[in-house]
Amino acid sequence: MRMAQILFSQGFGSRRACAGLIAAGLVRVAGRVIDDAAAEFEAEGLVFEVEGRAWRYHAKALIVLHKPAGYECSQKPRHHPSVMSLLPAPLRDRGVQPVGRLDEDTTGLLLLTDDGTLIHRLTSPRHHVPKVYEVTARHPVTPGQLQRLREGVLLDDAPAPVRAAAADATGERTLRLVLTEGRYHQVKRMVAAAGNRCEALHRSAFGALTLAQDLEPGQWRWADPRAFGPPR
Ligand code: URA
Repeated sequence: MRMAQILFSQGFGSRRACAGLIAAGLVRVAGRVIDDAAAEFEAEGLVFEVEGRAWRYHAKALIVLHKPAGYECSQKPRHHPSVMSLLPAPLRDRGVQPVGRLDEDTTGLLLLTDDGTLIHRLTSPRHHVPKVYEVTARHPVTPGQLQRLREGVLLDDAPAPVRAAAADATGERTLRLVLTEGRYHQVKRMVAAAGNRCEALHRSAFGALTLAQDLEPGQWRWADPRAFGPPR
């Protein structure tokens, strides 16, 4: 693939802007300045530098962000900054978007991608991708509440009781819930329907991906789409 096309596909601006970066001597491969926009490279696995920052070519982007509280997942946030502001411009410009949403006050693992097929696979209720939530509750967690969460609680937008795939106490006022669907405010509404109140919410896993301990709030890293199995 031509260098200009590689930069364009990875979100470095318009074709003209990408050609401009190359002509200005701002693009390097293996330490060597690439000043010919038509220079050909094997794109897959290519590591290149733009203005001194190293990038690896990814045909599709899959990002794990440790979402801090105080950020909205909407592209057009109303009261708080968007999670998109935590990503560098090339990721935003190549059309990366959140896979589902976390509330403004929820922290933890947020996936973002520009792969529409993957978004569909991960958010479609048919695929039952498990998501793990760590809840801090206002009141002590009781066996009765956990049982109601496992057996199903009524939510006003669901025709049948909604069940947690797992619900376990992790402390006196903390519990771990595993859900395989993603309704609006689902965890908070389920915990309320079970007779408690969610005071803080953190997502620790999405499918096979868990939030790495060393990924600080606000930090992101590339994730391996193979964590979700082969494309279907
Ligand atoms: N359930 C909620 O209530 N909020 C979230 O952010 C995610 C799941």
